[in-house]
Amino acid sequence: VIDIGKLYAQTGMFTYDPGFTSTASTESKITYIDGDQGVLLYRGYPIDELAEHGDFLETCYLLLYGDLPNASQKAEFDYRVTRHTMVHEQMSRFFNGFRRDAHPMSIMVACVGALAAFYHDSIDINDPLQRQIASIRMIAKMPTIAAMAYKYSIGQPFVYPKNDLDYCSNFLRMCFSVPAEEYKVNPVLARALDRIFILHADHEQNASTSTVRLAGSSGANPFGCIAAGIACLWGPAHGGANEAALKMLGEIGRVENIPKFVARAKDKNDPFRLMGFGHRVYKNYDPRAKIMQKTAHEVLTELGIKDDPLLEVAVELERIALHDSYFIEKKLYPNIDFYSGITLKAMGFPVAMFTVLFAVARTVGWIAQWKEMIDDPDQKIGRPRQLYTGSPFRDYTSIGDR
Ligand code: ACO
Repeated sequence: VIDIGKLYAQTGMFTYDPGFTSTASTESKITYIDGDQGVLLYRGYPIDELAEHGDFLETCYLLLYGDLPNASQKAEFDYRVTRHTMVHEQMSRFFNGFRRDAHPMSIMVACVGALAAFYHDSIDINDPLQRQIASIRMIAKMPTIAAMAYKYSIGQPFVYPKNDLDYCSNFLRMCFSVPAEEYKVNPVLARALDRIFILHADHEQNASTSTVRLAGSSGANPFGCIAAGIACLWGPAHGGANEAALKMLGEIGRVENIPKFVARAKDKNDPFRLMGFGHRVYKNYDPRAKIMQKTAHEVLTELGIKDDPLLEVAVELERIALHDSYFIEKKLYPNIDFYSGITLKAMGFPVAMFTVLFAVARTVGWIAQWKEMIDDPDQKIGRPRQLYTGSPFRDYTSIGDR
């Protein structure tokens, strides 16, 4: 019989940390989170200042290169992203192979991975210039692919990028413009989407980012690594949580029903949880949630959606929970997902697109982390260990003797 304790003693120090709750897998200079204080910094800048004063492409530049761009750097970066928004025409035919009712995230996984086949000139990860080009290509093409996935799902023709528009205006137009009518981008909605993208751009070593790093640690091409990140993000415990929060607000339905649901959330024998509350890292108010709440109000006001029952329920639920001893003691505050579903729904996005939008925004974070890893001379292939709990040694028995 194998002595597992002895085996691990022979291999040196060994830690068992399911879910990596206390093991740092890497050093990073990109994003800082202080969950107790409710602080989120990108390259040292507080998220609320970036969301208030900056724009998404500026944030992309910051995450990728470490500093905010000056005016000419910004203009050049915007220009480069804009020049790469088109996808190969052959790719538009690729879409026809999917069922119309396919989940858009499945299309995203496939099409982003397939970029490696269309742009195989930029899969040489050892060439810094090719790494740059691949990064710009992905940031530029993600909205185009996402909008194509949406248009395909509703049976409408694809809308090509219009490059005199800013990043989010262009995306809204590609999603919502139809040939029969002239589409005018609403600047309030474009600004709100831009802010939502800033809030989702990076969040240090979350599950999808760790997936991208792990995939990239083998030297895999960047498009394949980002496709792996998209697949991970799709899970309901990660990118799918805003959908769950929206569904729950719909189930609560009216302010009068809130106490019943709060009581259920507190009942140890009931598996029900208040969706959009609590976070593995934030044990204080998620700083992104505050900005998201403000954005939700702005979007609903702009669209003339007065007295939206979902928003009314959300605001009151938040008020009640923040004064309830159960939530106070357990440090359960609204997270970013609490208000984002309401906002995206009001903007006209179907629920299936929520996680796709998250993927579009998070792409820059994935790429920045991937680049940081490739640039690190000490980086090793990711290879977690395991604590073996299976059968001890045994001899093979022929099938007739089993
Ligand atoms: N409603 C009611 N009780 C809750 C909630 C909630 N939303 N979240 C946690 N609790 C309680 C748990 O029952 C547990 O109670 P106990 O100590 O009596 O057993 C305690 O708070 C700690 O909960 P854990 O699950 O251990 O906390 P963890 O940090 O692992 O989980 C998580 C964080 C998964 C986000 C959790 O708060 C949750 O399930 N929230 C609802 C889902 C959600 O909103 N997810 C989005 C996360 S944000 C993002 O992914 C971008």
